[in-house]
Amino acid sequence: MRRRILIALVAAAGLVTAGCSGGNDRSTQDDGGASSSDTVEVYSWWTSPSEELGLDALQEVFAQEYPEIQFVNGGVAGGGGSTKQLLQARLEAGEPPDSFQVHAGREAQDYIDAGHVTDISDLYNEFGLDGVFPPGLLDMLTQDRHLYTIPSNVHRANVLWASVPALEDAGIDPGAIAYPTVDAFIADLEKIADQAEVTPLAVGGTWTQVHLLETILIAELGADGYDGLFDGTTDWSGPQVGAALEEFQTLIGLTNEDREEYDWEFPTQMVVDGDAAFTIMGDWVPALLESNSLVEGVDYVWAPSPGTDGIYDFLADSFSMTVGAPNPAGAKAWLAVIASADGQAAFNQVKGSIPARTDVDLSQFSSYQQAAAQSFASDAIVGSIQHGAAATIAQGEAVNRAVYAFVTSGADDLAKFQADLTAAFAE
Ligand code: BGC
Repeated sequence: MRRRILIALVAAAGLVTAGCSGGNDRSTQDDGGASSSDTVEVYSWWTSPSEELGLDALQEVFAQEYPEIQFVNGGVAGGGGSTKQLLQARLEAGEPPDSFQVHAGREAQDYIDAGHVTDISDLYNEFGLDGVFPPGLLDMLTQDRHLYTIPSNVHRANVLWASVPALEDAGIDPGAIAYPTVDAFIADLEKIADQAEVTPLAVGGTWTQVHLLETILIAELGADGYDGLFDGTTDWSGPQVGAALEEFQTLIGLTNEDREEYDWEFPTQMVVDGDAAFTIMGDWVPALLESNSLVEGVDYVWAPSPGTDGIYDFLADSFSMTVGAPNPAGAKAWLAVIASADGQAAFNQVKGSIPARTDVDLSQFSSYQQAAAQSFASDAIVGSIQHGAAATIAQGEAVNRAVYAFVTSGADDLAKFQADLTAAFAE
């Protein structure tokens, strides 16, 4: 379903769908004890088939560890967290799930500031988590020395994925897609547009375009310049951002025209089917590639997105215990699984991400994941805009509105686009 239609439906429904997922009709445990009638409702946006594989892996560990608690999937479709409005409505109505998915960074800080997530610093002690997560990641989940969520994984956003058959048809060497610049990438996309039947670059609706845009900003500005977009030291209205927006404009002209209708899976599926040569998307993509039995190096290849080698566009999922959780004991059990080495190994192997814990043995992980772990350890780390690391929820929404307005009105008013983006970060 189109994102904007879903949002409209949510608004029209008066934002009262919370009851559908069983948020209210469960017995509340005030004493923190679990009983056989207990359920735990977990909100996430892992609703696509390939993302559900990861959630299923977590549920399996949960069922083994806590057979007395029934897992209730409060998932709401909307890749990249693009339909968090429904969660927000439930939180504001005092009908929270027990736990919800939240990106580490500014997004997590928003929920802390709004008082929707419980201080779970004690659980870090109880679960023995001292020293198992990278300190920089914990900083993104901390306020005034208190911790509020537990990270499940680390994803990389700036990855270019390509179809080997589509590249070969267009006479492009699949071994040479580590483009040093966006311009070099555009040159190959134009070659594909001239010679082949396939879509040069597949994208989906607005949030996937924001995802693409952030990778272009990173390429144009470098890690320091990009970081400066969020602390005021890089000018959103300056010429470097202007140059990135021009590149983005050219790229949009080389994408599928039906892009607005889709979430992230469809453009990825275009690459799977060889109907598109490239897509730029986070590393939840391998789960879809592998569920289509595609083999790295044979059917698909990947590289850091153009112009971003040596930079890791970071995002991490984490889970909360909500303030007012109907079953805090259930939420605690869920968080224990999220935090555990077994839970992180089972989940991440399927999800495509790397464990947030640094003590998980990666020998059973894919070669892509092992490479991602190495990059995470050695690259310059920057935070994703779309995926809540660098931008607040309000800033991310304003960027989405700016991109939507630009792309759907013909992608020709660069001055307005840049002014809208500047305004998004003006406060
Ligand atoms: C989440 C990933 C998810 C992706 C697509 C990102 O915001 O962090 O876990 O797979 O969105 O839905």
